[in-house]
Amino acid sequence: MIRDVLRMGDPRLLQPSEPVARFGTRELETLLQDMRDTMAAHNGAGLAAPQIGVPLRVVSFGVEFNPRYPDAEPVPYTELVNPVLAPVGDEQEDGWEGCLSVPGLRGVVPRHTRLRYVGFDPEGNRIERDANGFHARVVQHECDHLDGILYPMRMTDMRRFGYTQVLFPDAAGEED
Ligand code: NI
Repeated sequence: MIRDVLRMGDPRLLQPSEPVARFGTRELETLLQDMRDTMAAHNGAGLAAPQIGVPLRVVSFGVEFNPRYPDAEPVPYTELVNPVLAPVGDEQEDGWEGCLSVPGLRGVVPRHTRLRYVGFDPEGNRIERDANGFHARVVQHECDHLDGILYPMRMTDMRRFGYTQVLFPDAAGEED
């Protein structure tokens, strides 16, 4: 079921989320189905459970070809429960981000270039991956939602924040 996405200003987006205690439950499966449906409806590159008002540490992300990010390298579709992130090295890079909770806007955010992430799939199987570039950026963005952090709170240069249609007038498929 497509769920409403909370927008910046809603205090629920600023609250830390709780770990999932039990895997393989119908409740978790329903949550992930709703997240898939909601992401697909908005062409999102990722979504975190608190964005649909569920304060649990669950994210989903993935990019094949996404018209919102036409130049992004593909990221495998992943559902990740109770994720833990560890930067690899000190390197950071700037990149443009958007968020379904901050519709119509884009901003440049510094993120760790390389990352190891660990978590579980919905059945409780361990996932451990190294990621870099856009993949690492998406994971950092989604997992920030679990700690009540929205990307504008990570920005260091507010001059590089604006309306998508003004910044990128030729971008196709924009709907937020
Ligand atoms: Ni977001």
